[in-house]
Amino acid sequence: MAALPDEQRKALIQAAFEGKSSNPYSKFRVGAALLASDGTIIKGANIENASYGGTICAERTAIVKSASEGNRSFAALAVVTDVKSAISPCGLCRQVIREFCAQDMPILLVPADYPLNQDSGDAGKGSVKQTSIGELLPDSFGPEHLELPRGTI
Ligand code: THU
Repeated sequence: MAALPDEQRKALIQAAFEGKSSNPYSKFRVGAALLASDGTIIKGANIENASYGGTICAERTAIVKSASEGNRSFAALAVVTDVKSAISPCGLCRQVIREFCAQDMPILLVPADYPLNQDSGDAGKGSVKQTSIGELLPDSFGPEHLELPRGTI
């Protein structure tokens, strides 16, 4: 899996915590932070809707914010909630991540008790789960499949 320098890793995790925002219905706060290839960090929160299906997850908020501004190249993603264990992106978000991110791009699933204020953030390293979209969504459909030759029907 692609490596992420320690400093960038810490900055990204910090930004994911900052991305969390209160929301009216589930009261389940999710913060996401995307590291763009140019070093920019884009934060996202889950944005809920009274018509619940209209809710947008934190991961997709961050991706769409960035893509809409023309930045579609990403190097890492971090996700955190208020839950002590690391929470993994939902199925919809996995497909959207698959669209924009490399199969082996680091995805950091961060527990809420990650020791942000400790000088050595390494203390929490073990409890951060590092994964990738290749692991989270194996055998996936992606943009390249639309380019494959098609039969005549
Ligand atoms: N949620 C996210 O933001 N990301 C996920 O990957 C899972 C779920 C949000 C959506 C909704 O606002 C709340 O968590 C409860 O489902």
